[in-house]
Amino acid sequence: MRWLKTKVWHISAEELDSPETAEKLEEIKTALTYGEIIGLPTETVYGLAGDARNPEAIQKIFQAKGRPQDNPLIVHIHSIDQLEEFAEIPDERVLKLMRTFWPGPISFILPLKGDHIAAKTVADLRSVAVRMPSHPVGLKILEYTGIPLAAPSANISGKPSPTDYRHVVDDLKGKMYGVVNSTPADYGIESTVLDCTTFPYQIARPGEIKKSDLERVLDNEIKVHEGDAARPISPGMKYKHYAPKQPLILIEGIVMAQTLAAEKEDRKIGVIAPESFREVVPEEVEFISLCQKEDDYREAAKNLYGALRKMDKSDVDMIYIYRFRETPFSAALLNRIYKATGDVMIKGDQAN
Ligand code: TXA
Ligand code: MG
Repeated sequence: MRWLKTKVWHISAEELDSPETAEKLEEIKTALTYGEIIGLPTETVYGLAGDARNPEAIQKIFQAKGRPQDNPLIVHIHSIDQLEEFAEIPDERVLKLMRTFWPGPISFILPLKGDHIAAKTVADLRSVAVRMPSHPVGLKILEYTGIPLAAPSANISGKPSPTDYRHVVDDLKGKMYGVVNSTPADYGIESTVLDCTTFPYQIARPGEIKKSDLERVLDNEIKVHEGDAARPISPGMKYKHYAPKQPLILIEGIVMAQTLAAEKEDRKIGVIAPESFREVVPEEVEFISLCQKEDDYREAAKNLYGALRKMDKSDVDMIYIYRFRETPFSAALLNRIYKATGDVMIKGDQAN
């Protein structure tokens, strides 16, 4: 499906109640009601949204992204009451987590109920992932339309997720009916996915809401799924992700300067690292700073996909990306970096 033009609705969080916004919301509602798909701002990454109940809308999402059909979508809602129609809440503990962290960057996998949601949305599974986003504009659209919106990240499959509306346009212009231009995503990496279909609950994808955050609320242990690609609990985990077109290689900070000095002249190199590395990077190397301080994982996560996209568009032949220290606070960031590099790394002992 192709559209000659993709509509752009500019909606700022400060003008949610203006008559102009009301007009745009009405247009969006009509488009979604007729099975169109649109770029939707959320606080994690932009989503490509369509009516989760409408198989035709869902088909358009899979087609536009080039997404494998066996990879289920997250359904976005504005109120826990909406779940009544299509999901089971296994017990009070799940409700407590929802009330604590929603709206916000966490999705819950729940047992599916009935046939309200299109089978394609959940890739024929008997479970459904649900999320209530906190981006004021995304949440407003969910409230105004009242439609449960299936929305994967609004990127071409395999590319970095979009953190800015321009990334959505770059990837999907002409492949979606419209896109909402609003503020960039606050977190910059996708939501934590918590599988609540078994107990103890299990983190299927790390994100801003961490194991310790969940355990503090529950007083129960939370398991973390250790990325076994052969038996993923989230089908999406088995696919290559977030990758720019050039080889992307993890590099330990201590060997950054030597490795760059040993580079052959005929290759154009890019480096993605904290600001403090700028001074060890030769002038001819393309440098993108991820964060001011080496342990500012939040800032690095927010800038990661934008940096990968910028390198992807540039003329560099190869990219080095800084290996952040492993701590519970860097887990989600490192998960995305490892996925993008495919674990190719230069360690201190190899570089000498
Ligand atoms: O932050 C986010 O979650 C963003 C924004 C747009 O909300 N969405 C997002 O969607 O990242 P997507 O489709 O790119 O990633 C959804 C992940 C995939 O790994 C998918 O396999 C998993 O969630 N998933 C969805 N439904 C599932 C289910 N019923 N069972 C297991 N995994 C599921
Ligand atoms: Mg995605």
